[in-house]
Amino acid sequence: MAILFFLLHLLAISLSVYGDAFIGVNIGTDVTDIPSPTEIVALLKAQSIQHVRLYDADRAMLLALAHTGIRVTVSVPSDQLLGIGQSNATAANWVARNVLAHVPATNITAIAVGSEVLTALPNVAPVLVSALEFIQSALVAANLDQQIKVSTPHSSSLILDSFPPSQAFFNRTWDPVMVPLLKFLQSTGSYLMLNVYPYYDYVQSNGAVPLDYALFRPLPPNREAVDANTLLHYTNVFDAVVDAAYFAMSYLNFTNIPILVTESGWPSKGDSSEPDATPDNANTYNSNLIRHVLNNTGTPKHPGVPLSTYIYELYNEDLRTGPVSEQNWGLFYANGGPVYTLHLTGAGTIFANDTTNQTFCVAKNDADTKMLQAALDWACGPGKVDCSPLLQGQPCYDPDNVVQHATYAFNAYYQKMGKSLGSCDFKGVAIVTTTNPSHGSCIFPGSSGKNGTSINGTTQAPSPANSTVSGCLSQYYKGGSFTTTLIFVALFFSSVVVL
Ligand SMILES: *[C@@H]1O[C@H](CO)[C@@H](O)[C@H](O)[C@H]1NC(C)=O
Ligand SMILES: *[C@@H]1O[C@H](CO)[C@@H](O)[C@H](O)[C@H]1NC(C)=O
Ligand SMILES: *[C@@H]1O[C@H](CO)[C@@H](O)[C@H](O)[C@H]1NC(C)=O
Ligand SMILES: *[C@@H]1O[C@H](CO)[C@@H](O)[C@H](O)[C@H]1NC(C)=O
Ligand SMILES: *[C@@H]1O[C@H](CO)[C@@H](O)[C@H](O)[C@H]1NC(C)=O
Ligand SMILES: *[C@@H]1O[C@H](CO)[C@@H](O)[C@H](O)[C@H]1NC(C)=O
Ligand SMILES: *[C@@H]1O[C@H](CO)[C@@H](O)[C@H](O)[C@H]1NC(C)=O
Ligand SMILES: *[C@@H]1O[C@H](CO)[C@@H](O)[C@H](O)[C@H]1NC(C)=O
Ligand SMILES: *[C@@H]1O[C@H](CO)[C@@H](O)[C@H](O)[C@H]1NC(C)=O
Ligand SMILES: *[C@@H]1O[C@H](CO)[C@@H](O)[C@H](O)[C@H]1NC(C)=O
Repeated sequence: MAILFFLLHLLAISLSVYGDAFIGVNIGTDVTDIPSPTEIVALLKAQSIQHVRLYDADRAMLLALAHTGIRVTVSVPSDQLLGIGQSNATAANWVARNVLAHVPATNITAIAVGSEVLTALPNVAPVLVSALEFIQSALVAANLDQQIKVSTPHSSSLILDSFPPSQAFFNRTWDPVMVPLLKFLQSTGSYLMLNVYPYYDYVQSNGAVPLDYALFRPLPPNREAVDANTLLHYTNVFDAVVDAAYFAMSYLNFTNIPILVTESGWPSKGDSSEPDATPDNANTYNSNLIRHVLNNTGTPKHPGVPLSTYIYELYNEDLRTGPVSEQNWGLFYANGGPVYTLHLTGAGTIFANDTTNQTFCVAKNDADTKMLQAALDWACGPGKVDCSPLLQGQPCYDPDNVVQHATYAFNAYYQKMGKSLGSCDFKGVAIVTTTNPSHGSCIFPGSSGKNGTSINGTTQAPSPANSTVSGCLSQYYKGGSFTTTLIFVALFFSSVVVL
């Protein structure tokens, strides 16, 4: 009986979502020298981006998006919400001006009413559901309600006790809004819009959530987080948050409303208090997220159920205030150059992706100079890296400093070891990057091209755990980071089981 119910329940969810999951991109515009709408659309086309969300319903942008085939979610800006939620006529006007004027030339598929209203603008909460209803009735009057869905994006912080997911519930303060809202979404065949930020879950957990778990990196199967109530295994934070939302809805007896992730991403740069906002982490998160979504993987609670997701965001928004990371969530700079090149081998046709898998090992900029020097000495000595390009008069001599020279040697070692796990650590002073550090005639091993690719690992380096050097040099290569990670996973694992 329970199984039958479960199957029916699955069926209900999958039937209410059409086709495969898609990846979209949010377009925030707090950018100095924001490109023109035509230029933005040219970038979208060049990157094969088929779905976008705007934070308003800008007329020029909607005109530029006409006849492109790109699907568009428009937004009612939060500052217009009070008026719209209080007046059917104001809502009808908004729809006429911002939607009816553009369809069908511009394929508007959804209206996001406000943004994180319950957590960011609680004073508007009392009119939120009326605003959705008024907008919906204007769409019904125009016979567009089947092709345009109405909803409102929520912050995942609205969900309390989200670990383990099966115990999650919406902050009860908002039940008087959430219950009619979910009724509305159910009766109109719409979806719950949810913003999912594993980056913040990771940062705010003070080490309880392992970085690998936030970045969708593989964990050993016996270290995955298990929800003790459902015995579902969680391999990443994203799935756990989405399932927490499904459970929070079912706690209120709504079991057939699909979820659309309106925002998710990872910042590529931060200030000194945000060390995990790096291009490599951002690349890893977004590349893995995109593959996860486009694979129709679903979540442990609803495997195979499409979970379309909008990446936050297209451009770095340099005009945003707050910590440095706040300005660095973008995939692109305003000039259209990529902040990093996504690794999407096998993910199909989205983004001009890097199919070469080039990664390099570099010295950390802020690493201790003495440790760098020792590790450099180890690599060029016992590590058996050919360091002759670093000699005076050779192509990689300049710039002559320990960070640059260590970078060359670390990378040569890493490439020689077949980029194996642990071969880019050097006691924590090295890090893997996707940015090719080659400069001028100094071509780094691992670069695609003439003298980069032909590095042969003919001489195997000594096993790091028992290098032949005596004394302190041997300590510089221990590959200790992996052990630390396992401990964090174990901690997290036990905290989930205990809860
Ligand atoms: C608009 O988008 C919807 C949803 O993807 C799609 O079914 C429809 O065919 C599109 N319409 C046009 C005119 O491209
Ligand atoms: C609101 O306006 C729509 C037309 O936009 C109309 O169909 C509907 O009946 C109106 N609802 C109310 C409650 O006035
Ligand atoms: C629930 O929401 C209310 C109203 O915004 C807020 O004051 C309260 O702190 C929230 N509860 C938790 C546990 O976050
Ligand atoms: C959900 O349904 C159960 C069983 O019908 C009922 O006991 C419970 O009160 C309902 N909960 C809500 C929040 O409506
Ligand atoms: C793709 O989905 C299948 C199940 O349909 C799953 O076994 C596999 O791990 C998924 N791959 C990724 C990269 O998510
Ligand atoms: C991304 O890579 C895949 C190969 O896996 C390729 O088929 C696809 O065309 C690429 N996308 C773009 C926009 O280049
Ligand atoms: C890139 O890396 C992935 C996983 O590490 C691998 O499956 C794929 O074959 C690689 N592609 C190329 C072109 O080397
Ligand atoms: C790579 O090749 C170029 C020209 O073929 C040469 O000048 C350069 O020294 C080489 N670089 C390395 C690191 O071997
Ligand atoms: C490097 O590897 C290639 C192909 O595996 C081989 O033909 C070549 O002889 C090797 N070169 C050296 C110096 O070992
Ligand atoms: C290196 O360590 C391995 C396993 O720890 C051991 O079997 C091997 O004998 C050691 N080699 C040397 C040269 O000490």
